[in-house]
Amino acid sequence: MTGSDKTQGLAGRRLLLCVGGGIAAYKALELVRRLRDAGAQVQVAMTAGAQQFVTPLSFQALSGHPTRTSLWDSAAEQAMGHIELARWADQVIVAPATADLMARLAHGLADDLVTTLCLATTAPVMIAPAMNHRMWEHPATQGNLATLRGRGVRVVGPNDGPLAEGESGPGRLAEPGEIVAALANHADDAPSVPQDLAGLKVVVSAGPTYEDLDPVRYLGNRSSGKMGFAVAASAAKRGAAVTLVAGPVHLPTPAGVTRVDVRSAAQMHQAVFAALPADVYIGAAAVADYTPRVPAADKIKKSSESLALDLVRTPDILAEVAAQTQALKLVVGFAAETNNVAEYARKKLEAKRLDMIVANRVGIADGGFESDRNAMTAYWKEGERSFASAPKTQLADELIDLIVERLNA
Ligand code: CTP
Repeated sequence: MTGSDKTQGLAGRRLLLCVGGGIAAYKALELVRRLRDAGAQVQVAMTAGAQQFVTPLSFQALSGHPTRTSLWDSAAEQAMGHIELARWADQVIVAPATADLMARLAHGLADDLVTTLCLATTAPVMIAPAMNHRMWEHPATQGNLATLRGRGVRVVGPNDGPLAEGESGPGRLAEPGEIVAALANHADDAPSVPQDLAGLKVVVSAGPTYEDLDPVRYLGNRSSGKMGFAVAASAAKRGAAVTLVAGPVHLPTPAGVTRVDVRSAAQMHQAVFAALPADVYIGAAAVADYTPRVPAADKIKKSSESLALDLVRTPDILAEVAAQTQALKLVVGFAAETNNVAEYARKKLEAKRLDMIVANRVGIADGGFESDRNAMTAYWKEGERSFASAPKTQLADELIDLIVERLNA
C-alpha cells in the first residue's frame, strides 16, 4: 500500500518514533502501522516508562526493525549506534509525549535513549503530548511547551475529551490519523515559515452558536467556522500555542491546535475564559446575541396562531475579554456587516475597546459565511488594511502577518 494523496509526502521518509511512558502508548502502535501504510520507514525507541505499557516486541513486529530501548544495549549499538540512528532519521516524532518527557526535552537532558536521540538529531522534531489535563495546564508544562515551540518543535494535539482517569479536558493524544496528517503536512516544510508567534498563547473562537428553544429546535446562524479555523491553523503554523473554541461545525481540527467544542453562547463564554490567560484573543465566532430566557423542557406544540419567543441578551464574550484586568497583548474582533462596513466596524472597535476589528461584507456573492473565499478590512485605532478577495486560508495567513506587526508595534 502506498497511502492516499494526503499522506503522499511520507513515502520513503525515515521516521524515528520515540514512545513515552503514558497510557496512550498503545495508540503509537496504530501510528506505526499507518506510517508504514503511507510508505515511510519507521524505527522505534521507547523510554523505560513506555515499556511498562507496551512491549518492544509489538513495535518490532509492526515496524520491521528492532525496537531500541536502552543506551546501554551493546548488541543494538553495534548494529546501529544511537548517534547513527539520530542521523538516520529525517523526522522525529515523540508520541505520546508525557509531561515528564516534555520537561526533559525542554531542558536538553540526555539521561536516557529517547532524550539522547532527540538531542543528537538535526531532523525536525514533532511531539504529540498526552497527559492528565491538570498536568497539561500546569504552568511548568506550558512553559516547557513554549520553550520547545520556540526551538521549532512542532506540536500536534493534545485533544480535548475523556481522559484515562475518568476526567475530561485537554490531554488526549491526537489520533494516529491526525498525527500522520500533521507529519505529511510538514513533510516538505519550507523551514522558512517564520516562527514569529513562538512562545505566545492564542485563543480563537470560531463557528456559530446554537441556542436551544426546546429539545428539538434551536436558534442558529450560517457561520461555517472556516475563517476561524483557518486563523487558528495559521497561528499554530507560526509557532503559537493555539486553543480553538469551536461552535457546532463540520471541520477537521487544524494540526497543532487544541480544540474545545461547545454549542451555546454560554458554553463558549465559559470555554474561552477557561482558556485564558492568553496573549492574543481572536473572536471569529458568530455568537448568538440572544438566547431563550428559559428553554422549554418539552417540545413546544403548535397550539396558537403565533408564537412569541422570550429572548435575553447573551454575554458579549469579546467585550468581556477586552475588559479583562489581566490584559491581553491583542484582542481582535470580527464584524459581519451588510452595509456601512467601515462606520459600523469602527464603532464596534471603540465600543468593545478592541485592538483591532476585521470586517467583512456579508450578503455578497463572492465571500461571506459558507464560502471558501472572502474579502475583508481590518481596522485599528491609527490605521486600516484591506485584504482583497482570496481563499480564507490565505486571508488567515495575511491576517496573522498583520497581527504580528501590531504585536511588535
Ligand atoms: N461576540 C461575542 N459575544 C457575543 C456577541 C458577539 O464575543 N455575545 C463577538 C464576535 O465573536 C465577533 C464580534 O463580537 O468578534 C461581533 O460583534 P457584534 O457586535 O456582536 O456583531 P453583530 O452581532 O453583527 O452586531 P450587530 O448585530 O449589532 O451588528
